[in-house]
Amino acid sequence: MRGPPSFVLLAALLQAALGRAVQEDLTSDSCSPPQLSLNGTDAEKSEQRVRKDYSKVREVKFSGSIGPLGEKRLCKIKCIGGQWVGPLCVDQQDNGRYQPLFKNCKLEYVNPHIVVTFKNISIHKAGVVFPHGSQLQIRCKELGLYKLLGTSNPRCHNGEWSTRLPSCVPTTLLTNFTEDSPPTILIKIPSGSASVEPGGELAVFPESTLHFECLYPRRVGSPDWTWTTPLGQYLTGWAIASEERDWKYRLSIYYAKAQDSGTFTCATPRGITNSVTVHVVAVTCDPISVSGMHLTVRVEGTRLGHKAIFRCPVGFAVSGSPNLTCQASGKWSAPVPRCEPVKCPPLDAPGGLDEPHLRLEEHNNSYGGRAVFSCAWGYKLAGAPGMECEIDGSWSGKLPKCLPIQCPPPVLPVNGHLIQSEAAPGMDGGRYAVGSLVQFACSGAHQLEGEASIICTETGFWSHPPPFCKPRCRYLGEPDNGYAAPSKFSYEPGDELQITCNPGYESRLDQPRPKCLPDGRWSAPLPNCTDFTQI
Ligand SMILES: *[C@@H]1O[C@H](CO)[C@@H](O)[C@H](O)[C@H]1NC(C)=O
Ligand SMILES: *[C@@H]1O[C@H](CO)[C@@H](O)[C@H](O)[C@H]1NC(C)=O
Ligand SMILES: *[C@@H]1O[C@H](CO)[C@@H](O)[C@H](O)[C@H]1NC(C)=O
Ligand SMILES: *[C@@H]1O[C@H](CO)[C@@H](O)[C@H](O)[C@H]1NC(C)=O
Ligand SMILES: *[C@@H]1O[C@H](CO)[C@@H](O)[C@H](O)[C@H]1NC(C)=O
Ligand SMILES: *[C@@H]1O[C@H](CO)[C@@H](O)[C@H](O)[C@H]1NC(C)=O
Repeated sequence: MRGPPSFVLLAALLQAALGRAVQEDLTSDSCSPPQLSLNGTDAEKSEQRVRKDYSKVREVKFSGSIGPLGEKRLCKIKCIGGQWVGPLCVDQQDNGRYQPLFKNCKLEYVNPHIVVTFKNISIHKAGVVFPHGSQLQIRCKELGLYKLLGTSNPRCHNGEWSTRLPSCVPTTLLTNFTEDSPPTILIKIPSGSASVEPGGELAVFPESTLHFECLYPRRVGSPDWTWTTPLGQYLTGWAIASEERDWKYRLSIYYAKAQDSGTFTCATPRGITNSVTVHVVAVTCDPISVSGMHLTVRVEGTRLGHKAIFRCPVGFAVSGSPNLTCQASGKWSAPVPRCEPVKCPPLDAPGGLDEPHLRLEEHNNSYGGRAVFSCAWGYKLAGAPGMECEIDGSWSGKLPKCLPIQCPPPVLPVNGHLIQSEAAPGMDGGRYAVGSLVQFACSGAHQLEGEASIICTETGFWSHPPPFCKPRCRYLGEPDNGYAAPSKFSYEPGDELQITCNPGYESRLDQPRPKCLPDGRWSAPLPNCTDFTQI
């Protein structure tokens, strides 16, 4: 329940404050410059604006901002024996004397059924730190439906709450009429008005009529109403309407007067109780003045318990509390809200897109605006390529995903194979990433026809069809003393070589002409041209 003293120096005030530093001509035991912090962080900028030399300064006064509501108090630190001591702050409730700051108290948790109020402002978050002396007001959210166990107004005293923080227990209506739970009290106000106050009491405007309905199964027994108003006489009894008479035990207050202020308790036959504390008071609140743009309000009136319900036009959301109630303090339960344009969570903020390859093509997070997506090179969108910002401030769909684009393994040509050059890094389960290059080679007497290397493109297809490996006959060279025609690097099946011998030489007539066969071999070796004389 303890927190560190929350303590803030405000730069602007500090500058003025340091002008009031007390100077004495003492050279020994001087203090080094005090560590300045602004809203809890080191204030480098403000430091330049304030003095550097503290050797003659004995005391520094400044405005401290204390507690969750930033209450301003005059505070000081003193240089004693070379050390800054303090702070001491002025406490208005203690004749304006400087006092050491007591320890703060922390609100460790806020139960969802509890409403915590501090100085008429409701606190929704756990972890808020309250200065010494603060008094909280705690009530259950639904008066009568939950029963508060414990004290409704704990006070912080030097780091400790005066009592354990209270809790809210569910009543019969919520527990299916379990016999050991407190009875539910439903509050009906057929005429007049009332407000549930921060401390959990029901503030009632005079002349209102109230029915308190204590819920208990009639077949089990009758509950009992008691009250603390000394002179009060109230009608009690089972409800009359047939659908209510077996479980609603009523107490009615007609035309409430100040004398009707007190606590009304319903006790079950087993002695388990729940109560409502009534405070009849003639209070009115100031009329609501709406100055904000767009905001419209429906006000019941300005009496205690009257409500003001705020609306914003389409495309705007109420920022603040949409319903205000006139409270016994004569104040509305919350400040007048504002209309803020509906915005969807921005996607261009850090962490807005959790998908690393997703890119925003268009981003308008106003109501009716849209976000349009694309994927980084080599990736394709899976899911809707865009979404709209809806009236409730949420995007119309889910973020799409970016899946890597891949090409299927290429078809290998007959009599050919892959040279696995740089395909490996992009391989994923036999599929190739965009940009992968594969190269083909043909075996033996085959020649590659088509593209020897192909690339996996962004379409998910290869840049070219895989090549063919065609059978070819190799070039045989020239015969000695003659030549072969046609002269080519390779020959298609069916090609024949014509041998012509140099003058004085000839080839033997029985030597057949070489013909390129379908399997890439020659039908015969290259014939010789032999010397005429040798034949
Ligand atoms: C300190 O912080 C509060 C809220 O975090 C802010 O309203 C205030 O302006 C800040 N003060 C200075 C001097 O920066
Ligand atoms: C409430 O209690 C009754 C009888 O004890 C039981 O029949 C019924 O199912 C309970 N309903 C719920 C919602 O638990
Ligand atoms: C505000 O009042 C309206 C009408 O009485 C009600 O429907 C709505 O639930 C209330 N909203 C809040 C936040 O209390
Ligand atoms: C808070 O309300 C109480 C009555 O419930 C009133 O006396 C007090 O002045 C109010 N405080 C502030 C700061 O408005
Ligand atoms: C965003 O969308 C809304 C609704 O379509 C439009 O009125 C507004 O002009 C857009 N904003 C920008 C900056 O384009
Ligand atoms: C051509 O001559 C070489 C030797 O000079 C011989 O080995 C070869 O068999 C001859 N070729 C033919 C087809 O006669």
